[in-house]
Amino acid sequence: MRVCSGWRRRLYCLPFVLFIPYFLSVLELHQSSTIEGSQKKHSKKFDHLVLGPAAGQGLHDRLQCQGTKALNKTHIATSSHESNFGESIALITVFTIYNSSLALHADGRSSDLVTVGNASYSKMERSMAILNVFINFIQATMPQSNVIILTDPASEFSLHRDRVTIYPIQGEYSRDKLMLQRIRSYIVFLETKLEEHSQGHGHINHYIFTDSDIAVVDDLGQIFQSHPNFHVALTFRNNKEQPLNSGFIAVRGTPDGILRAKLFLQEVLKVYSSRFMNASRMLGDQLALAWVVKSHPYFDTKRFSKPQAFLEDIGGTSVLFLPCAIYNWTPPEGAGQFHGMPLDVKVVHFKGSRKRLMLESWNFFISSSDISDMLCLILMSGRTKYDF
Ligand SMILES: *[C@@H]1O[C@H](CO)[C@@H](O)[C@H](O)[C@H]1NC(C)=O
Ligand SMILES: *[C@@H]1O[C@H](CO)[C@@H](O)[C@H](O)[C@H]1NC(C)=O
Ligand SMILES: *[C@@H]1O[C@H](CO)[C@@H](O)[C@H](O)[C@H]1NC(C)=O
Ligand SMILES: *[C@@H]1O[C@H](CO)[C@@H](O)[C@H](O)[C@H]1NC(C)=O
Repeated sequence: MRVCSGWRRRLYCLPFVLFIPYFLSVLELHQSSTIEGSQKKHSKKFDHLVLGPAAGQGLHDRLQCQGTKALNKTHIATSSHESNFGESIALITVFTIYNSSLALHADGRSSDLVTVGNASYSKMERSMAILNVFINFIQATMPQSNVIILTDPASEFSLHRDRVTIYPIQGEYSRDKLMLQRIRSYIVFLETKLEEHSQGHGHINHYIFTDSDIAVVDDLGQIFQSHPNFHVALTFRNNKEQPLNSGFIAVRGTPDGILRAKLFLQEVLKVYSSRFMNASRMLGDQLALAWVVKSHPYFDTKRFSKPQAFLEDIGGTSVLFLPCAIYNWTPPEGAGQFHGMPLDVKVVHFKGSRKRLMLESWNFFISSSDISDMLCLILMSGRTKYDF
């Protein structure tokens, strides 16, 4: 599936069909959709942090770095964050691991082990580590929020963490259907929340559905306060074919918001099933999202060319479009144009072969306690391809 790649007209990602990894997760699909062909994999991927120059230096609205020291400290000390208005937020991700993967790895091919800091990980442990770091970042920047992991009831993993709920939803989570199933699972989840509201049990809990290879680096609760009128929020970028990313979908937790979000996603699902099943198992959801939005008669796609939030009614659902540059930031791979990191970035996406950097960043943050410095590390290292 495609992820945000900054403000470039051309993207260099091609959907590669690689061979089956031993377990399925959305983040694994990301890995196999990155541009490097399997041939090049070994020569170019690093097993340690590699820092390059920080892009965007000298631009007044971009993060300025001196080494990994940030000159702009724009991110508030995280522990002082409190959510307002008594409304809570849940971040939701789809994650599955299957037991057969354990058997396949039981022979412990040592070449599969990678080391980050003082820990080494097998392939399956890597996935779990990423899920844990995903949760760590959320709990550091949004300590009042909850995390919900939607999974296949047949998926087997255990995770015992405060404020984290595992929520099995029946479905078809096979590799080819995973992105389709992800939307279905979102819909089923929203239906149960709607049901709770109709029985008078629901309190206002906003939902943000995301990929699990992201770091939330600022409080996302402000989206719901600064933009009081949307039902669903999506992230967009300046890309003609794939302007919308499916890796970040926020839903206002009012009964109306949940209902509208559900109807919107049902429309996306319908378009996905009827038009894009053959497009790609990775891209289908994003193509379907874009199709639903663009087929709205008054929608002006020129608005995707400026990284500014805007609101649009799409078939009765009020959709807030948020710039990827801030809510789904990832440096482009390869030679793409790259203007650095906006000062107010809120979500960093560790697309493709940047998963090591996600863990290294967390370790760096733990030792420095400074989000802005960590963002300098990410800015300088984000174009490197890693082995993780
Ligand atoms: C960021 O830091 C640089 C270097 O100290 C400074 O020149 C610039 O004005 C700062 N930007 C903002 C928006 O504060
Ligand atoms: C790794 O090192 C950190 C401190 O740098 C320590 O807190 C942690 O417990 C260590 N983990 C393992 C598995 O040894
Ligand atoms: C894998 O499946 C076996 C048999 O069903 C079970 O005993 C084992 O606990 C499972 N492993 C994990 C990690 O869930
Ligand atoms: C999908 O299949 C239809 C006909 O079955 C074809 O017209 C369309 O071009 C295909 N789309 C892609 C992206 O392959």
